[in-house]
Amino acid sequence: MDPMTFLLHKWWQELHISIPLNPSFLFSLLLLFSLLYFLKLSRGAKLNLPPSPPKLPIIGNLHQLGSLLHRSLHAISEKYGPLVLLQVGNTPFLVVSSSEIAREVLKGHDTVFSDRPQTRATNVLFYGCTDIAFCPYGEYWRHAKKICVLEILSQRRVQGFQFVREEETGEMVEKIQRSCKNGAAIDLGEMFVTISNNITCRSSLGQKYEGEEGSMSFEHLLRKAMGLVGAFCFGDFFPSLGWIDVLTGFSRRLRTTSKAINTALDQIIEEHEKRGDTDQSDRKDFVDILLYLQKNGMLEIDLTKENIKAILLDMFMGGTDTTASTMEWAMAELVKNPSVMRKAQEEVRAVVGKVKKAKVDEADIDQMDYLKCVVKETLRLHAPVMISRKSSASAKVEGYDIPPGTTILVNTWTIQRDPKLWDRPEEFLPERFINNPIDFKGHHDEFIPFGMGRRGCPGIAFAIIEAEYVLANLLYWFDWELPDGATLEQLDMSDMYRPIIGKKTPLLLVPLLHSPK
Ligand code: HEM
Repeated sequence: MDPMTFLLHKWWQELHISIPLNPSFLFSLLLLFSLLYFLKLSRGAKLNLPPSPPKLPIIGNLHQLGSLLHRSLHAISEKYGPLVLLQVGNTPFLVVSSSEIAREVLKGHDTVFSDRPQTRATNVLFYGCTDIAFCPYGEYWRHAKKICVLEILSQRRVQGFQFVREEETGEMVEKIQRSCKNGAAIDLGEMFVTISNNITCRSSLGQKYEGEEGSMSFEHLLRKAMGLVGAFCFGDFFPSLGWIDVLTGFSRRLRTTSKAINTALDQIIEEHEKRGDTDQSDRKDFVDILLYLQKNGMLEIDLTKENIKAILLDMFMGGTDTTASTMEWAMAELVKNPSVMRKAQEEVRAVVGKVKKAKVDEADIDQMDYLKCVVKETLRLHAPVMISRKSSASAKVEGYDIPPGTTILVNTWTIQRDPKLWDRPEEFLPERFINNPIDFKGHHDEFIPFGMGRRGCPGIAFAIIEAEYVLANLLYWFDWELPDGATLEQLDMSDMYRPIIGKKTPLLLVPLLHSPK
């Protein structure tokens, strides 16, 4: 995932809760920032800036951003056009809502727009942003990304984790089979988060880390870290007022969470080091691989232990909720569209075979063309994240001046349902991808759920095979019904921004064991 897309609405809400609403304090702030704001405006007067909705002093456009950021930005783009400049506190945000401008920004000016916005939370949690996702564009990023693409997330390596996916999915299927006996509904959203986390944990660290008695599980710590990355940090927007984060408890939470994660990762790395050189094993996890490359001088950079921990954190923060959310939306859309569900099940069951096998083989997925279209269509309508970047120098886009240090938000949610690009864009129609060369690898600017250009997602293969394999199993072994006789119209498809664009209400479905005729 790209976890940098900020939870602006949440920050706004937290702002209300956390700032002491003392009138003289607020008045002084208002005065100070009005002054700074107008000074800034007068300095920038000569620039030809993109259109902007009217701003308020201090907060800029923050009040125009509702709780569903992707939808607020969509509404703003409908009124002001596909390139809009917003201001939140001290930070300018450029919102891109068309595929042409996305290509111009992400490909045409890729060296200028290949930085990422960093925050206090990302700096503390990701060891000074020495991971891959938050690290500034430059030599270190180039080498770290190369390690990621060639060594830990390559097609060959992802195939090597087939046993992890099969074991974890087998466990999930058994659990559902047991619950079929009592006819109770299952929370599929929760189940997808667990399986996605387990697969990432075992691939990265070699095992699931439940946490010793009295301590938090690694998964729980990561959830807290995710919350902090999306939480409001006053110092990010108003650097001189960073002391308020101490008062709100944000700084303390950040310190304790990063310390706990650091201790857990140190322990995990130490265990791997004690186990020694595991190059002979064909079941190497990411820690083994990174330690092996580091120890044997096979890297172009000197990767420190801190760097390794930062890169490992990326795998969790970028890969678990994004993939889990994709699987949840896919199942929700399949249930909502029974003819699509029937077609997908018929395909899966025909490929796997009439006689029930003990398990679905991952190789079977190659022949499940319709299922692949279902996953693509899910990523079109429900791309989990917007693309966020930062400009490292000034640039001209569509004739407008974009100042350095501007945060860029490419709203994939708008682009991937643009009626100029997609026929019946609001409908879930996997058929649109049959015999259609459009894929999600960043070559087609109308479909960019994994981003585009140099900073595109390196986890595509890891995420896609996981989603396809888990879904194939759910469609092969079970039929699915809404609980308590609910109708399709009652199935809630509303979304929420957290900062993954996820399903608002849990997807509760009743599994029925499928018996082949
Ligand atoms: C459905 C699942 C996923 C989606 C939709 C997704 C989406 C994205 C997007 C939109 C970006 C930003 C791309 C850009 O700026 O152009 C990104 C970056 C990234 N993703 Fe993913 N991602 C997914 C799964 C994963 C997985 C499984 C991993 C790792 C195991 C991962 C690791 C990363 C990393 C490290 C980056 C930063 C790349 C860089 O800055 O160079 N992602 N992802």
